Amino acid sequence: MEKAAASDADVVFLDLEDAVAPDEKDSARVKAIDALNNLNWSGKAVSVRINGLDTHYMYRDVIDVVEKAGKNLDLIMIPKVGTAADVYAVDMLVTQIEDALGYGKRIGFELIIETALGMQNITEIAGASRRNESLHFGVADYAASTRARVTTIGGINPDYLVLGDEDEQGHRTTDIGDMWHYAMARLVVAARANGLRPVDGPFGDFSDMEGYKAAARRAAVLGCEGKWAIHPNQIAAANEVMSPSEDEITRAKRILEAMEVAQKEGKGSVSLDGRMIDLASIKQAENLVGKAQAIAARTKS
Ligand code: GLV
Ligand code: MG
Repeated sequence: MEKAAASDADVVFLDLEDAVAPDEKDSARVKAIDALNNLNWSGKAVSVRINGLDTHYMYRDVIDVVEKAGKNLDLIMIPKVGTAADVYAVDMLVTQIEDALGYGKRIGFELIIETALGMQNITEIAGASRRNESLHFGVADYAASTRARVTTIGGINPDYLVLGDEDEQGHRTTDIGDMWHYAMARLVVAARANGLRPVDGPFGDFSDMEGYKAAARRAAVLGCEGKWAIHPNQIAAANEVMSPSEDEITRAKRILEAMEVAQKEGKGSVSLDGRMIDLASIKQAENLVGKAQAIAARTKS
C-alpha cells in the first residue's frame, strides 16, 4: 500500500475482495482503513474494492470503511455487479453514512463488469447511480462466469483463431483473434453512453511486459482510459500506452488547424495528406489534444 501511494498510478484501489483470503477479511479491512487515514494519497484518487453483494462481508466493508475513513476515500469499487439494484443497495448504504456523518462530499463508484449477468445488464448498471464514474472489465471473473476456455488472467487462447484458405502453395494463414473483443467493446459503449470512463482490468503475467502492453493497446484503441496494474512494474507501461503519443498529438493539432481554415472558408470537410477530414475529425482531435493537456497538467502539479 505504501508503494502504491508513492507510485505513478492515477488511481489506487485497496483490495478487500478476491486477493484477500477469507480468514483475513477483518484484518485487511483494518489495514485498508489505516492506510486511507495515514498514508499520503495526494495527487491520486483512492478507492477500496469491497466484497461482492453475494458475500456477508460487504455490509461491514462499506460501513467500517466509509464511517472510519470516508473523508479520505474518493471511490468505492464494487465487484461482480450483476444488476442495477446491486448499485442501488450500496448507494443507499453510502448515502446514509455520508448524511449521518455530515460528509460534505459524494463518494464515487467504480463498477467491475465481470459476470455474464453484469454484461447482460450493463446498460441499466451504467445508469444506476449518480455516483457511477467508471466501468471496469474484470476479465478473470468474466472468463470464469462465461466458462471461457482460458486459465491466465487477461491472456489469450490460441484456439481462438481464424484459419485462412489455402494459397497456391497450400499455406494457410492463422490469425489469433481477441477473445475479449465483444466484452470490451460492449463495456466501452455502455460507459460512454452514460458519461463514464471505460477501464481495462488485470493482466496476470507481470513478467510478460509485451503481452501487457498489447492488451493495453487493444483497450486504448477501443476507447478505454486506463488499465489496471496488479504489479508495480505494470504502471509505467499503462501510463505509456494510455497517453497519446507525440505523433498522434501532432496530427490531431494539424487536423484542428486545417479544420479552422476550412471553417473560415465555409467548408465542412477538406483533405489533409490526401485523406478527408470533417467535423467528426475535429471531435476526435479535440478528445486527443484534451487528454494530452490533462496529462501534462497533472504531470506538472
Ligand atoms: C477482476 O476482478 C477480475 O476478475 O478480472
Ligand atoms: Mg474479479
